[in-house]
Amino acid sequence: MSEALQTNTTSTFADNMSLPIHRWFRYTAGFSAQWVEETVTEYLSKSVHSDNFRVLDPFAGSGTTLLSCDKLGVTSYGYESHPFIYEIAAGKLLWKSDTDLFLKTADDILDQAKSDHSAIEQYPDIVFKCYDEKNLEEIDHLKKALYSKAGSSFAYKLSWLAFVSILRASSNVGTAAWQYILPNKKKVKVSSAFEAFAKQVNLMYEDMKLFQESPAKKCATLIKQDARKASTIENNSIDLVITSPPYANNYDYADATRLELSVLGEINSWGELQSKIRPGLIRSCSQMVSKEKKIRFNI
Ligand SMILES: C[S@@+](CC[C@H](N)C(=O)[O-])C[C@H]1O[C@@H](n2cnc3c(N)ncnc32)[C@H](O)[C@@H]1O
Repeated sequence: MSEALQTNTTSTFADNMSLPIHRWFRYTAGFSAQWVEETVTEYLSKSVHSDNFRVLDPFAGSGTTLLSCDKLGVTSYGYESHPFIYEIAAGKLLWKSDTDLFLKTADDILDQAKSDHSAIEQYPDIVFKCYDEKNLEEIDHLKKALYSKAGSSFAYKLSWLAFVSILRASSNVGTAAWQYILPNKKKVKVSSAFEAFAKQVNLMYEDMKLFQESPAKKCATLIKQDARKASTIENNSIDLVITSPPYANNYDYADATRLELSVLGEINSWGELQSKIRPGLIRSCSQMVSKEKKIRFNI
């Protein structure tokens, strides 16, 4: 790491929260985009075939490596097997899409949500613990309006990203440093979901316009797959691997997204978090191996 980078940044995701597009979703497990940019630039300058330089991040997370490579105009590939985190990264990589169409779609969603008077649908208990009634109603109506446009369009995917990005700010409970929700810790400042959504859409619109201004842009390839089974990329075609794998540091990538997955209706219980999200992930948390340990040691 260069001396300037060591003193100027913490090399964590916190630095990214002031950077266009990187800041769209707070992913505490992520690393610094500035560090990635410096590292790629350094290796690129030493490479003998810099015009066809290729970077791989086998644990792409929220897409820091890939987005940084897009910004530098470098070809990159990434794998991510957490379905929700994959969609976050995939959404950010849509930065080059039509900004006006995105804005129109998101505005339509907000208008539709505001005129919806339907009853709140069923949610897991955890969701009721994390929102007051008014905000849960706004979230529920935003979600219904969003899902009425569900599909593969970029405008839907970006609107989905705007929606999931506001779920913490509009919750009335705290979030721990590693993004686990703290249902027993009440917050003082809570944003209205409608206001937070409008603000987030505006931020995304401005960031896309800013990113699109500079010409040196590429388009990363993100693959939703378990990196241990990766076979999509040609052998010996990668010049540099930049990654931060799931270390055995007790960070639970599945639990960190529990609130979002519960609001979206992807999971209804802790058991579903285990069965639907964990299987594709490398285990980095002791709670995840307890069952196997019991079998192996016959406890
Ligand atoms: C430390 S995070 C990477 C964060 C990334 N550097 C960023 O800035 O957002 C590790 C990522 O690996 C993902 N992961 C865990 N097991 C995986 C596997 N078997 N294949 C692909 N990705 C996996 C997790 O979901 C998590 O997003």
